[in-house]
Amino acid sequence: MKQKIAIISCSLNKTSRSRILARQAAESLLDLGAEVEFIDLQKYELPLCDGGPAYGNSHVIKLTKRIAEIDAVLMAVPVYNFYANAAAKNLIELTGKAWEDKVVGFLAAAGGQSSYMAIMSLANQLMLDFRCLVVPRFVYATGSDFGPGKGGMEEIQSTEINQRVDELAAAVLKLTEALHLEIPQSE
Ligand SMILES: Cc1cc2nc3c(=O)[nH]c(=O)nc-3n(C[C@H](O)[C@H](O)[C@H](O)COP(=O)(O)O)c2cc1C
Repeated sequence: MKQKIAIISCSLNKTSRSRILARQAAESLLDLGAEVEFIDLQKYELPLCDGGPAYGNSHVIKLTKRIAEIDAVLMAVPVYNFYANAAAKNLIELTGKAWEDKVVGFLAAAGGQSSYMAIMSLANQLMLDFRCLVVPRFVYATGSDFGPGKGGMEEIQSTEINQRVDELAAAVLKLTEALHLEIPQSE
């Protein structure tokens, strides 16, 4: 059975680099035979989570349903102030239980090397609150890993980052498949 993986691009910046990572991950997953749902937060006007009426917002309801229906998620996040951006955390606050028991992996775009641990806060929230299985491998790219491509659009220009994206895609599929294996019961 095809695994259904969502890639959530969390940057609200029109020239986002983490979205380039997200697109690359989508290609890798498709090559590996997965079904991919690309969710771009720029396409959703999400309210800030208020623990109340925000849950009734039509975009929130739609996103919660989309996330609940998939097997695993790759979150592509910008690093802001040493953590994933607020939009990524807000999404988790808004969609909460939809994340339960999912496999989750991360791709991060940062300005420099010093925020390498930035995704740990999100990873901890997802593990502790929703028992997500966090892929122990992630992609962390900085500005120097990107450059202009043929059409002038930015693209990944680091072989290592491309390889890490492929490895993350393979790992998320492997873990998702393993989680869904029926374990034979001994008599
Ligand atoms: C408000 C803000 C805070 C940032 N904080 C950090 C930071 O703490 N560490 C870092 O390495 N880069 C930081 N950056 C640089 C971004 O991580 C970088 O521009 C990255 O490409 C953003 O992802 P995006 O292109 O997908 O939006 C910051 C950028 C902004 C706008």
